[in-house]
Parts: sequence; C-alpha cells; structure tokens
Amino acid sequence: MRILAIDTSCDDTSAAISDSDRIVANAFWSKVKVHNEWGGVVPSEAKRQHEEFLEPVITNVLKESGLRLEDINYFAVTYGPGLAIALEPGIDKAKELSVKYNRPLVPVNHMVAHIYASLAKDKDNKPLSQVNEFEFPALALTISGGHTDLYVMERHLSFHHIGRTLDDAIGESFDKVGRMLGLGFPAGYKIEELAKSGNKNRFNLPRPLSQSDDLNWSFSGLKTAVLYEVYKLAGEYRPNQEKGKVKLQDISDKLKPQDIADIAASFQLAAVNSLLIKIEKAIRSYTPKMLIIGGGVIANSFLRMNLENLALKYDTKLVYPTPMWLCTDNAAMIAIAAKFLIDHGKILSTKEEIDNLERIPNLRITKE
Ligand code: KG4
Ligand code: ZN
Repeated sequence: MRILAIDTSCDDTSAAISDSDRIVANAFWSKVKVHNEWGGVVPSEAKRQHEEFLEPVITNVLKESGLRLEDINYFAVTYGPGLAIALEPGIDKAKELSVKYNRPLVPVNHMVAHIYASLAKDKDNKPLSQVNEFEFPALALTISGGHTDLYVMERHLSFHHIGRTLDDAIGESFDKVGRMLGLGFPAGYKIEELAKSGNKNRFNLPRPLSQSDDLNWSFSGLKTAVLYEVYKLAGEYRPNQEKGKVKLQDISDKLKPQDIADIAASFQLAAVNSLLIKIEKAIRSYTPKMLIIGGGVIANSFLRMNLENLALKYDTKLVYPTPMWLCTDNAAMIAIAAKFLIDHGKILSTKEEIDNLERIPNLRITKE
C-alpha cells in the first residue's frame, strides 16, 4: 500500500511517501520567512509558499522513492486543524491528484497524525520510536503551538478527551516567553538551550490549576507571572499596573544574559511540572500500558527526561518518535495515520466525496 501524503497546516510545506508503515521518502520546505513582527506565522505568506513549493517538494519525494504518481495507491492530506488558508493548497493538490489518478483520498487530522508518528518505520522497516505497535489502554498527549490535550485510547483511532488547556497551549507559552526574552519565533528550542545554563530555582513561578480535581491545564497565568518577573528585572516594574494592560514585548535588551537564562530555566521547570502533575494523576486513574506523546513540544529533552522518570515510576512505556524531524510538523506522520484510517475504511472514493472535502481549521479529535 503506497501513500503519498501532504501537510500544509502551518508554515512547513511537506510531502512524504510511505509503503505500508515504512517511510520511503520525506521532504519539506520551510526556509521562507513567513513570520510577522509579533513572532506569529503570516497565513497569506505561508499559503504563497505552499503554492510555490508544493510541486517541487512532491517531485522530490517521487525522485527519492523512485516511484511515479501512477504507482501511488492513496493520496492523503491534512484537512485540519491548522491555518485556514494555508491548508487550502495542500487539500487542492491532493484532490487534483486523487481525481487525476483515480485513487481514494484520505483526509487526516494533523493532531491524530502527531500521535501516530510513533508508529512510523524507516526504509529498512526499523521502528522510528520505542515500539512496533500501540498497546491499549494508552494515554495520548498532544502538545504543540496550538494544542495541549490528553486522551485515553482504548483501541486504534478511538480518543476519549480527558484533559485540555483552558487558555494558551504549552508551545504558545514557550513562544510568548521567548518573545519577552528576544528569542524570535518559534522559541521552544531556544528556551531549552538557554535553560541549560540557567538556575531553574531562581524564580518561584506558579503551576496554575495544579490543585484542581480535573485533568486540565492553564498556561496563561504562568506566562503573565514570567512577564512580571521580566519587568522587575528590567527595572520597569509598576505595582499599580493593571494585569490586562501589561504589554507583551521584547524588553530583553534590559536584561543580563544570566537573567535570561534563569528565566528560561525557571519557566521551563514550571511549564513541565504543570504538565507532569496532571499526567501523573491521569496515569493513576487510567493505568495505561503506554504514554504516547506527540507534537512539536515533545522535542524538549528536559520534558522527555521527566516523562521518562514518571513512566518508570508507574511501569508504563513512554512512546515518542526518536528522530527530531518526526516530532515537529512533517508529512510522514500524515502517511502513517492515513494507513490506519484506510484500515478502518475512512477514505473518500467517489469524485463527489473528494470534491466535497473542505478544510476544517478548528478540527478536533473526536471519539470514534
Ligand atoms: O507541532 P509543531 O511543530 O507545530 C504545531 O502544530 O504547532 O509545534 C510547534 C511548537 C512551537 O510552539 C515550538 O516553540 C514548540 O513546538 N517547540 C518546543 C521545542 N521545539 C519546538 N517547545 C519546547 N521545547 C522545544 N525544544
Ligand atoms: Zn503540528
């Protein structure tokens, strides 16, 4: 079963080809500067990049795999969640190829794909994670720039939503703190690097919602607490300043390098502890055989080390893609998720079904 998959959900233009669960080719383009002065992605710029580079990226994966479009059995594409107009070029291309080559189209949820990335194998059929298969019940945690969600999986493609962030996503909080510290966008890995030379106990930051009975998170309060510390360090602390009026801005030029490193380390510790408190609670409630993690933030090795210890403590298995490129956005994970969707009959076969596929920017993972 050969699948050509496309992902244009954000600012990476990606394509991949799989043969069953082996990734035989993978390519992406993400060099063009598509970020605005606030550090966010400019959707129209991302769309333009996808339109320009999708074709060459597909040509690359075909060349790498030695296959022609005629050899592909299924086309797969992310239809959400993601930036609305960035999703369009990917969906249009996948529809065009499906109709032209008379092959079914598999619509894939980007976050489901982050979870299924752990089942990818390399060309030689070696697993690209710690496992060959998922064991159920499993907990699945998705943590990225837009998501912080926890699910129980009793079987493949079945997701029971048990926890979520009530405000900012964890990756978003890394990016916002990065902005205060003048680190550019995205800032997650830079915060991780700086934290290595910082004192993680210097600032006593909150773990919002850690006492609540549910499995939800909040990262907005943590971000604001960091902002106040940054203002204080910069000598701009105004006690009467109303919370809502504090501006998120780059005042890093007023901070010493050691202050920046200490803020990064203290923030990372608080964010990771916040996550761990609720995950430990969920493990106690659901005694999962596996804790599967997906999304860009799992690239953080401080987080992974702490999750690894938690998994050991409760005799469960931590599962994540080992290569870094499979943790952040890529189309290989779309191809792997598509394989499971095909196994479950979740494909579009008629021209009418294919024509009717639309982007769903706020697509959720629902119980199936
Ligand atoms: O999954 P992803 O590549 O794109 C989305 O679907 O959002 O995740 C991107 C997010 C960004 O917020 C980025 O700052 C964060 O993942 N990230 C990290 C690290 N590497 C990427 N956060 C913390 N530590 C990292 N090493
Ligand atoms: Zn993603």
